[in-house]
Amino acid sequence: MDAAPLDPSTLSPYWMPFSHNRYFKQHHTLRMLDRADGVYYTTREGQRLFDCLSGLWCCGLGHRHPRIMDAIRQQLDVLDYGTAFQMGYEPTFRLAQRIVDMAPPGFGQVFFVNSGSEAVDTALKMALAYHRARGEAHRTRFIGREKGYHGVGFGGMSVGGMVANRKMFAAGMIPGVDHLPHTHNLQEMAFSKGQPTWGAHLADELERLVALHDASTVAAVIVEPMQGSAGVIVPPVGYLQRLREICDKYGILLIFDEVITGFGRMGAAFGAQYFAVTPDMITFAKGINNGSVPLGGVLTKHAIYEACMAGPDHMVEFFHGYTYSGHPLAVAAAHATLDVLSEEGIFEQVNQLVPVLESAVHSLKGEADIVDIRNCGLAAAVELAPIPGKPGLRALQVFEAGLKRGMLFRFSGDMIAMGPPFVSTAQQLHDMASVLRDAIRDSR
Ligand SMILES: Cc1ncc(COP(=O)(O)O)c(C=O)c1O
Repeated sequence: MDAAPLDPSTLSPYWMPFSHNRYFKQHHTLRMLDRADGVYYTTREGQRLFDCLSGLWCCGLGHRHPRIMDAIRQQLDVLDYGTAFQMGYEPTFRLAQRIVDMAPPGFGQVFFVNSGSEAVDTALKMALAYHRARGEAHRTRFIGREKGYHGVGFGGMSVGGMVANRKMFAAGMIPGVDHLPHTHNLQEMAFSKGQPTWGAHLADELERLVALHDASTVAAVIVEPMQGSAGVIVPPVGYLQRLREICDKYGILLIFDEVITGFGRMGAAFGAQYFAVTPDMITFAKGINNGSVPLGGVLTKHAIYEACMAGPDHMVEFFHGYTYSGHPLAVAAAHATLDVLSEEGIFEQVNQLVPVLESAVHSLKGEADIVDIRNCGLAAAVELAPIPGKPGLRALQVFEAGLKRGMLFRFSGDMIAMGPPFVSTAQQLHDMASVLRDAIRDSR
């Protein structure tokens, strides 16, 4: 407890993302991070916090992993930045190959971006470009899902289905978007372990939307294989398979947004393999380089790339890209991350932790005020009954009680989400659950 208190007026200039700015600036004690090492942050006051969400689902290997840090340092001595428009850097091409090699069969190319939001908007544009190149320019509609989160770009916001993220920007929604119903139903699936057995039929709603709009107008369906930001909503058994069948039937592209599920969270390279359903495109970010330098991307089936490679070959084929697409520091960090994932057997480690997390979080069942506990891969959520008339306050109180007890939980709405580091010990996962129990009790 050595840091002097901060003058709240010095905090004013920073407009914080996805945060209650006014509340934070008055209650920042224990919430100012100072440094991090492995699975722990340390706050300005010297409090150690277990990182229950691996950063924001991105630092699965723990913070400041030495191999990733070394790769970034070494890269700084070689090439800081290199233009990726009409010029190349060999490690970026090699990284694309490594990612393709981790994907299910049929994938051929990777387009690099800097975030999940950019990955989603890029994938939507690719879907339009693909259909246009094949003479189906009338396929312009996108179908997302209620409660889906696909980032904050205009495209991602429009296909997303989280009301709070949409209502303020209603006028900016891209046209021609419809939504599947979400699959979260407390009456049918509360306290399910892993995939709920109820709910596959909800995928059939896609048939209804296709009948309403006509298949010839639909470009793509985009879903998170497991919905992370809405609070770990796990797909019912057979649901994703059914979406795949319907998309195939009507020539609609299926996009999996794997910004959270990619690169280890499911104990596999992608949710596609975990759920045994192969989409046409996969968006990724976060885990690709352990959150160390912004990097995201879109993995596409080779056939999509091939179709887009049209026109005179001296001309740009896809008028899209970012100044920092495939930034050399991010690429170096990604190579090191993929090395660690494979050489240190991380997917196996995750698979060993999954049942530990499952039994730890479900041991809270019966605790007053918990209305649901769910889990899938190395992710879990506990849903709390809201305080009447004050939605969101309950989870905030639990979050603050957790901080005092050395746990940094993620709260959103009245949910507490957990996506602990892949390198956590079983004991740390048990401690996380038991502190959550205490924090819920403290908050009463
Ligand atoms: C599934 C999904 N898509 C997109 C995003 C947006 O990623 P970013 O915040 O890097 O733009 C997120 C972020 O959590 C996400 O979970």
